[in-house]
Amino acid sequence: MVKNSIVRIKAYPMTNLNVAIFGCSGAIGKALCIEYINKPNIDNIIAYSRSGEEFENNQIKSIKVDYCNEQSLAEAASSLQIKLDIIIVAIGALDNPEKSIRDLSTEKFLDMFNANTIPTALIAKYYLPCLYRDRITKFASISARVGSIQDNELGGWYSYRASKSALNMILKGLSIEQQRLNHDSIIFGLHPGTVDSKLSRPFQKKNKEYFSPEFSAKKLVNVIDAKTVDDNGKIFAWDNTIIPY
Ligand SMILES: NC(=O)c1ccc[n+]([C@@H]2O[C@H](COP(=O)([O-])OP(=O)(O)OC[C@H]3O[C@@H](n4cnc5c(N)ncnc54)[C@H](OP(=O)(O)O)[C@@H]3O)[C@@H](O)[C@H]2O)c1
Repeated sequence: MVKNSIVRIKAYPMTNLNVAIFGCSGAIGKALCIEYINKPNIDNIIAYSRSGEEFENNQIKSIKVDYCNEQSLAEAASSLQIKLDIIIVAIGALDNPEKSIRDLSTEKFLDMFNANTIPTALIAKYYLPCLYRDRITKFASISARVGSIQDNELGGWYSYRASKSALNMILKGLSIEQQRLNHDSIIFGLHPGTVDSKLSRPFQKKNKEYFSPEFSAKKLVNVIDAKTVDDNGKIFAWDNTIIPY
């Protein structure tokens, strides 16, 4: 056991990391890009968005991609000239969540899966082969506490909750499959806290405090940094506590 740990530490490149972040037009995705610029051990940050969101810092390379279009993802992945150490998916939407099952519609259900579940699965399909195979790599997708089945004490929000529970299942499956290719692969979900963003604004309450995207990104990067192979397949909140499935 101790011997294995020593091998892993040797294999981990503490410097020159290449990070790809998807969903960089969003509040948390953008803040994650900026948080990574401030870290001394990062070489390249590749910022993917549907709009081609530009950043002032030239350490960040912006690339436009349609997350639900396989051809777009395949072309973007095949044009990548470097191997990646870290992939983060910060894509998602929450529109008119259902208070009751009576509010559910096929259209809403599909919209939530298109925004919250399918992008991570497709990004994994095309980008897991872009990760290094001979060192620690991390693939994280931003899920939500409300995707936890055990944690659901309020009900409602059927399609958003289900899309995030399904995302958690996708991450679990990926964590098993990718470890067969790289013993040092770590795949996990993240809950960012309740963050001020376009997504959360319609549901914000007057007297409640919300994290800034910058605060959440700082905490999430700390969580990502702390992950080891023992964390593979699990879901973590912004404060590094485990969220049950
Ligand atoms: N904010 C919170 O309190 C909170 C809490 C728990 C979990 N989360 C999760 O955190 C992640 C980031 O959210 P955020 O707060 O940063 O929200 P945000 O500012 O609204 O950003 C959402 C991102 O997702 C993309 N997106 C939205 N709908 C999409 C669709 N149908 N297909 C593809 N991409 C889509 C957006 O791209 P465009 O700009 O191109 O539309 C944007 O990049 C989401 O997964 C969200 O569920 C947030």
